[in-house]
Amino acid sequence: MDDENIWKNYLVIKMTALSVNVNKFALVRNARGADLPNLIDISNKCLDYGADGITVHPRPDERHAKFSDLEPLKNLLSKFENKEFNVEGYPSDFFVKKVIEVKPDQVTLVPDPPGALTSSFGWDCENNKNLLTDIVSEFKKNDIRVSIFINPSIKTLENLELIQTDRVELYTFDYAHTFNENKEKAIKDYIGVTNYLKKEFPKIELNAGHDLNLENLKFFLDKINNVKEVSIGHALICDTFEFGLQETIKKYLTLTNN
Ligand code: PXP
Repeated sequence: MDDENIWKNYLVIKMTALSVNVNKFALVRNARGADLPNLIDISNKCLDYGADGITVHPRPDERHAKFSDLEPLKNLLSKFENKEFNVEGYPSDFFVKKVIEVKPDQVTLVPDPPGALTSSFGWDCENNKNLLTDIVSEFKKNDIRVSIFINPSIKTLENLELIQTDRVELYTFDYAHTFNENKEKAIKDYIGVTNYLKKEFPKIELNAGHDLNLENLKFFLDKINNVKEVSIGHALICDTFEFGLQETIKKYLTLTNN
């Protein structure tokens, strides 16, 4: 391959994976107590249209994805090469057992209490160091990559070295909700925390998610280097009402592939 083609090939390497959080499709399905939309069909379409992975967040009340969705989703993902299955949730004993049975590519640990409307804060690594250290080790023993949900705040990351997580997922709510006022200010703490992580924990990889959308995603990825994966649900599903699923995924991929 000549130099020009090597360079072209390099340019098409995906920088950030797009994992579609299909919880809201499951919410619509559950509303009628039947199987429409079918979560496997719709996830299959997301992957066919180019998404790099599927995320679900089975909550204790199973109002979105259910624990019984995990096995068929894992089977679906196993038909695709280089696409990943990510399961998020609070690491209750039940959650840990179910996730280990299914063995997704990645588990994302979130500290949300049982009735939470949505995830609304990251872990305090000091207060939860024993819980997280044990659970991260249990998942890693079972060959499941672990990511923990974190705030854009260095002071919540004390004891991160004990926890031995593979990745962290930056909680992007604050960024997304202040983006329209002042985007440079909105991203500031995220730059601070990622510079800290790069310096102190160069092996820990970075994911991001919550309230990312077609408007705020590009600036985030331009400013924060090396985001391995964004998981996007709510906005992406709202966009499908306007653009349809295939076109919506295409629009997000244009942003994650740059
Ligand atoms: N990451 C985590 C840990 C979440 O709990 C959620 C919502 O379930 C997301 C990302 C995706 O957030 P959104 O639905 O706002 O895109």
